[in-house]
Amino acid sequence: MGKIILTGDRPTGRLHIGHYVGSLKRRVELQNQGGYDDMFVFIADAQALTDNADNPEKVRQNVVEVALDYLSVGLDPSKVTIFIQSMIPELCELSFYYMNLVTIARLQRNPTVKSEIEMRKFEGGSIPAGFFTYPVSQAADITAFKATTVPVGEDQEPMLEQCREIVRKFNGVYNTDVLVEPETLLPDNAACLRLPGTDGKAKMSKSLGNCIYLSDPADVVKKKVMGMFTDPGHIRVEDPGKVEGNTVFTYLDAFCRPEHFAKYLPDYENLDALKDHYRRGGLGDVKVKRFLLAVMEETLAPIRARRAELEQDIPAVYEILRKGSEKARKVAAQTLHEVRDAMKINYFDDEELIREQAERFRQGK
Ligand code: TRP
Repeated sequence: MGKIILTGDRPTGRLHIGHYVGSLKRRVELQNQGGYDDMFVFIADAQALTDNADNPEKVRQNVVEVALDYLSVGLDPSKVTIFIQSMIPELCELSFYYMNLVTIARLQRNPTVKSEIEMRKFEGGSIPAGFFTYPVSQAADITAFKATTVPVGEDQEPMLEQCREIVRKFNGVYNTDVLVEPETLLPDNAACLRLPGTDGKAKMSKSLGNCIYLSDPADVVKKKVMGMFTDPGHIRVEDPGKVEGNTVFTYLDAFCRPEHFAKYLPDYENLDALKDHYRRGGLGDVKVKRFLLAVMEETLAPIRARRAELEQDIPAVYEILRKGSEKARKVAAQTLHEVRDAMKINYFDDEELIREQAERFRQGK
């Protein structure tokens, strides 16, 4: 069986460097490594509506922002099918069938949904049904393309687990093997699992205002890096400092490569040496931040430049999405055909069913 890679993002805002180190970077590597039969990356606008029902315009405006982010980090439409979720109506049909294979109790146990409900403070009865059931529709996203490999952050693992359960249940109930169980592909660098916000809070999030966006201009990135949370106990340069929980070092873990030292900070051999000095005392935050900025700009500057170009031809970006969506729809339609066959709800093609029933009624049974 071939390898099919699939992943997506909700278009609720521009993508930030947390998305980049946690997943976008890996996607581009996967794309360039090859060795897969197909790779899909999609903009999950319908899923974004499940908790933005009051603000559909935000979702609509951010579709192109996410597309620009994808293309500017180097996703290449000649290698990867980039599409918009809502352009694939087959996903709704598949979700509708999967709903019957999942219990409310099981959905309530999904840890990601649980914490999102707490975070959003939906009170008991006010949880939108669509939001509550989005793990089911996510299973449709994955299985419609028979994805084998889903590169996502660790917060998505419960979705993948639920998807695998649905696959097993479906294949069992309908005695088939049309659906494929997907594997999660987690980021490999520990610092990348979850990049904290610039304020040191656990998560980068738009509402906390602690993000560095891929589309931020250089002066904005500089301001954000220079204002970053470090070790509050590291007051004077001579003071010994903590590296653990220090955002600047966490970001260095994520972005820094050995060759950056020769280029920007030749007094140190590598990151360990820099950390040792910080721990001992005598190394100021500003010096480390300047280094981090130089290191991050190596990644961010080319992305920013590509984005600026793409922004000059928005119709072309939509054309890429249209072509991708057409291709994705063909693939999903084929799976749906097989699913309907397996479910034996392909009534008009089922000559045997029609013949059998005709016979039965003729005999008055
Ligand atoms: N839930 C994902 C997120 O919030 C987006 C998503 C929707 C997705 N469908 C998917 C990711 C299918 C991977 C596979 O980022």
